[in-house]
Amino acid sequence: MNTLLINALRCQNLLRPPIWLMRQAGRYMADYRALRQKHTFLEMVHDPRLAAEVTLLPINLLQVDAAILFSDILVMVEALGLKLTFLDKSGPHIENPLEKSEDINSLHPTHISEKLSYIGDAVRLLKPELKVPLIGFCGAPFTLASYMIEGKASHDLRKTKLWMLKEPDSFHRLLQIIADCSIEYLQLQIKAGVDAVQIFDTWAIYLGYAQFKEFSLNYLQKIVQALKNSPTPIILFCKGSSALAPDLASIAPSAISLDWNCSLANIRKQVPSPIALQGNLDPDILYAPRPTLQKEAKRLLAEMKGDPGYIFNLGHGVLPDMSLDQVRCLVDTVKESA
Ligand code: CP3
Repeated sequence: MNTLLINALRCQNLLRPPIWLMRQAGRYMADYRALRQKHTFLEMVHDPRLAAEVTLLPINLLQVDAAILFSDILVMVEALGLKLTFLDKSGPHIENPLEKSEDINSLHPTHISEKLSYIGDAVRLLKPELKVPLIGFCGAPFTLASYMIEGKASHDLRKTKLWMLKEPDSFHRLLQIIADCSIEYLQLQIKAGVDAVQIFDTWAIYLGYAQFKEFSLNYLQKIVQALKNSPTPIILFCKGSSALAPDLASIAPSAISLDWNCSLANIRKQVPSPIALQGNLDPDILYAPRPTLQKEAKRLLAEMKGDPGYIFNLGHGVLPDMSLDQVRCLVDTVKESA
């Protein structure tokens, strides 16, 4: 069993840093594209056997040090009763987004474990196949609320922020519903056997500092607190979070995942062990000529050298037009750094 990731999440890794990549399974892989010819994205997510097969692609093709369950943060939106589809050009689309506070009453925040049982099935299929840890995940309440209100990816979260500012009470009610359901969902994944979980708060960056604390951090804290009795490590990822790292650290997750707008060595001065740090290579470096890619990876490794709580990752996900060979070169560079 490869224990690099779990040791690093406990800030006890004395060997080379582990590497895994957000969106390590996806359209940049020919094998993934071949499966997508036959199935929609949601069909693959809903079918435990297909989800397990896709989860294993980067393990077999790249030999990364951890698997992340192939799924999506928006399965929770579906479980709550909204109608979700994925459009090839524009991504997620919700047919019946929340438009007014009364719409919150039409959500179905019950039987979450039953509705998402297919996720547990995928975890149970995967566990015996894996010699690396399996990471489960969920979306953070603020990010999920923003999708439920916008109905699609948005460049300004206008509707979400107007709701938040005009009707903070009902916005809090929505966040609390999502947080409670997310706790149940993460417990389901932990019970099924995931070795760590990551919470994705991609859109918290749209909030001002005070709003971040009130509408995002508060609910992340509720989730972290609720899972305190389980030994399963929790990683927090907020895109653009470098300025927020001390606040994220204040709620005591196992690790914070950072994007590329900061020096991890500087963040380490503000966020001491036992909180692990994950990141933070600019994903666009994967487009660079190979010597540049290797140089940048080695620079990051040198910056975090000897840190027992460092996990190599990108600052955000691998993109569909990136090259598998370049991704492999990155993984090999990190693994050969030992
Ligand atoms: O990291 C992994 O490999 C695990 C699987 C995973 C996916 N989405 C697969 C996916 C994870 C952890 C996510 C998280 C997710 N999903 C987030 C948070 C992290 C982030 O990227 O900011 C968000 C905001 C979503 C919502 C979502 N799902 C969007 C906006 C899109 C469209 C953009 C795109 O890349 O097409 C998706 C679709 C999606 N999720 C794909 C994959 C592999 C592409 C689906 C396809 O095959 O068409």
